Amino acid sequence: MTAAPVITVDGPTASGKGTIAQRVADSLRFHYLDSGALYRLVAWRALRDAVGADDADGLAHVATAIKPRFSDGLISMDGADVTDAIRTEEVGQLASKIAVFESVRRALLELQRSRRSPPGLVADGRDMGTVVFPDAQLKVFLTASAFARAERRHNQLIAKGLSANMPTPSQEHVRREIHARDERDAQRTASPLKAAEDAFRIDSSELSVDEVVALVLKWYAQSQEHAAR
Ligand code: CDP
Repeated sequence: MTAAPVITVDGPTASGKGTIAQRVADSLRFHYLDSGALYRLVAWRALRDAVGADDADGLAHVATAIKPRFSDGLISMDGADVTDAIRTEEVGQLASKIAVFESVRRALLELQRSRRSPPGLVADGRDMGTVVFPDAQLKVFLTASAFARAERRHNQLIAKGLSANMPTPSQEHVRREIHARDERDAQRTASPLKAAEDAFRIDSSELSVDEVVALVLKWYAQSQEHAAR
């Protein structure tokens, strides 16, 4: 039996990959894997259980133990809705710190691969095309200028802060946080952020979400024609 098709969307923080991957999955009625959410769930649990950010074994243990449930855009774990709790900058920064550990990455591998089932999967992250699904039918690497990414993330935080009645960090602060995360993600030795050699690259700085989604769907249709030949 041939494995279900996979489309991978990798890229740096705030490049828009989550929005694009989700929209492509909806269009094709494919499953969707937000792999960053798994790293965030490990970070959130490590904070809760006071596991240190440099305790590789303790963190790998947490990564093995998490049993999240994804349904209708909500994420729950240990009986609690953690959808918003894992989206804070604190959790995001810690997620990128613990993602450097090979033991943590290995512990999450099976959980990620288990999401591959018919009719197909769209997976977004940093190493979906390079490590987790190297045989993906289509690989996309999505970037955007540092300015566009800081602006997007800042707007997201404003929207979230308004609904949660929380103060919003300045755009300069957001820019610095994004830069720190980019450096860590690209410099680590375990599965660093980089485009797979066979990935299609898109710079979304000047493109709308609809335009990027249309491009990915076009490439996917072409890859299917190619596979059928
Ligand atoms: O929201 P943002 O795009 O900034 O991050 P995310 O996709 O939620 O991922 C949070 C962190 O997990 C990232 O900064 C990465 O360091 C790490 N990550 C990873 O190492 N590998 C993945 N496949 C996905 C996320």
